[in-house]
Amino acid sequence: MTTTTAARDELMRMLTAKWQPPVVAVLAELGVADHLTGGPRTAAELAGAVGAHPRALHRVLRAAAGLGLFTQDGAGRFGLTPTAECLRSDVPGSLRPAAMMFALEPFWSPYAHIRHSVLTGEPAFDKAFGTTVYAYLAEHPEHAAVFGAAAAAFHGQGIEEIAAGHDWSRYGTVVDVGGGTGALLAAILGRHPGVRGVLFELPEVVERARTTLAELAGRVDLVAGDFFAGVPAADAYLVKSCLHNFADDQAVALLRVIRRAMPAGARLLVAETVVPAGDGPHYAKLDDIEMLVIAGGADRDEGEYADLLAAGGFTVTALTPCGDRFTLIEAEPRG
Ligand SMILES: C[S@@+](CC[C@H](N)C(=O)[O-])C[C@H]1O[C@@H](n2cnc3c(N)ncnc32)[C@H](O)[C@@H]1O
Repeated sequence: MTTTTAARDELMRMLTAKWQPPVVAVLAELGVADHLTGGPRTAAELAGAVGAHPRALHRVLRAAAGLGLFTQDGAGRFGLTPTAECLRSDVPGSLRPAAMMFALEPFWSPYAHIRHSVLTGEPAFDKAFGTTVYAYLAEHPEHAAVFGAAAAAFHGQGIEEIAAGHDWSRYGTVVDVGGGTGALLAAILGRHPGVRGVLFELPEVVERARTTLAELAGRVDLVAGDFFAGVPAADAYLVKSCLHNFADDQAVALLRVIRRAMPAGARLLVAETVVPAGDGPHYAKLDDIEMLVIAGGADRDEGEYADLLAAGGFTVTALTPCGDRFTLIEAEPRG
């Protein structure tokens, strides 16, 4: 059997994709998109503004233009494309922190140890850094700040679809377990004036959530705590983008805590990226590798979520796709 040029080209495209994130990341970190809002500029002009080496910056911008991220005109000036606008720091839903995160040492270097993850099922991060990613971030606030902003941008996607994709008015109180800084809870309560909310989060995150939820102050309780120790009583338990951070045993432990806290008739709503069947491309399939290598969690398929929820004490009653990223998995207590 001989290989074809097309097949070799395809494989080379996969392999050289690793050159792309650092190019985007360094331009994001230098804030280049912010310096192009007034119109196209040469690398020499930009280099002065961002403190870079003019020729090196030109090479990186030329590569980024080749990817379609910036425009490059005949006079060597680089300009914003709609994609590059997402790297501006002053746009809603900016992906600048997400782009910066991809080249940060703790999120990049563990991939050198992916073999360890594949042979053991354990996160390569822990082998590379001798601790979990969460313990590392607690010790490195500068990286935690970038990670927090990146996660908010990643997880912010789908908020409107989830708020619109379920009849939240059925519940008196919705608790968002590990609800971040409250953007999803705010969207749900904004649509449903009769619903009260509880944001349950780690103490430092609750403090940051006060700003997001300030306008809804009379209808929201902010409760600080550890979701492995206990969660408040409510009619609906929303858990978005949390279970995929954890290996099965920890995810089941969290589900059991919720199950124990639930009053009769309450419901569980899990919002996650569900791995679709088949061999087509999907965000969740590579996010799952990030979970394997960095976090020790997993993106799961429909059957795996049904099994996980069953082990946690729940029966899945409905699955509702919310946009192209998230699925809302509705479940009720078993037996
Ligand atoms: C991936 S983020 C998801 C945040 C939010 N649900 C969203 O979708 O944007 C996971 C959240 O779980 C919170 N968390 C992690 N461990 C926790 C714990 N033991 N108790 C309470 N919250 C925790 C983190 O602070 C973080 O905000």
